[in-house]
Amino acid sequence: MSNGDERCIGVFDSGIGGLTVVRELRRRLPHENIVYFGDTARVPYGIKSVQTVSRFAREDCDFLLRFDPKMIVVACNTVSAIALTELEDTLPIPIVGVVDPGARQAVLLAEGHTIAVIATEATISSDAYRKAMIKYQPTTRVIQKPCPLFVPLVEEGRRCEDAITRAVVHDYLDPIMRLDPRVLILGCTHYPLLKSAIAEAVGPGVKLVDSGEQTAATVVEKLRGRNTLNPGPDPGTLTCYVSDNPQRFKELGQRFLDHPVVDVTWVSQEQFLTHDVSTISV
Ligand code: DGL
Repeated sequence: MSNGDERCIGVFDSGIGGLTVVRELRRRLPHENIVYFGDTARVPYGIKSVQTVSRFAREDCDFLLRFDPKMIVVACNTVSAIALTELEDTLPIPIVGVVDPGARQAVLLAEGHTIAVIATEATISSDAYRKAMIKYQPTTRVIQKPCPLFVPLVEEGRRCEDAITRAVVHDYLDPIMRLDPRVLILGCTHYPLLKSAIAEAVGPGVKLVDSGEQTAATVVEKLRGRNTLNPGPDPGTLTCYVSDNPQRFKELGQRFLDHPVVDVTWVSQEQFLTHDVSTISV
């Protein structure tokens, strides 16, 4: 068996939100080099059709494959919910999505009690979280609720203590709380930024599951299992590509990553669709 693998990990999302998953990956895997693609020209994915999300997902993976990654992480819940199986069947390298790791952790924590899932409209319509959870525990009772206003609230920079944030959080979560869940899955890249407002609304009796955090743990397991962790002593790099507005990505990115986002390159549609990574100017 080879001794480690210095190739990068490719990560993609519909836009900026996947940086919450990158944050967790970097915390657990500080030596790994990460190439991130944020499809900022076509975000949001969470209100689009299955066909469109599947096509975007294939194109995003094709773009990342040009960097010769050893693994691709689908940071976007919507893509993980809709297109992961198709990607797993067609990609030549391992692929990890965020739904299964979050679902597995929720079942463990719930100990047979009700689990609630909040996510985009597309993720909830796909029923992917419930299907993943009943694989682990067939009798799991699941409540699902789309929370479409959370993404724009976070992108607008509204904080947890903001009165509008708190009102929206209560409006979505109070009806769920009447059904007495013990675990709540934050099934969208943006929701960890609202964690304290959500925790306050649901109270201490409900455990929150951050799918991004669980995904990072799964990536560690898989790389270790295949002996493909990066052995290098150097700190890993983060190289970001976006399909629109790199400046906005840099400005907002820090809040998602908990660190300044330095290396961001815009990819034009022509560059995105060609197969030659050398055409991308930095
Ligand atoms: N990244 C998406 C997700 O986790 C949220 C933003 C969008 O709708 O594209 O589902």
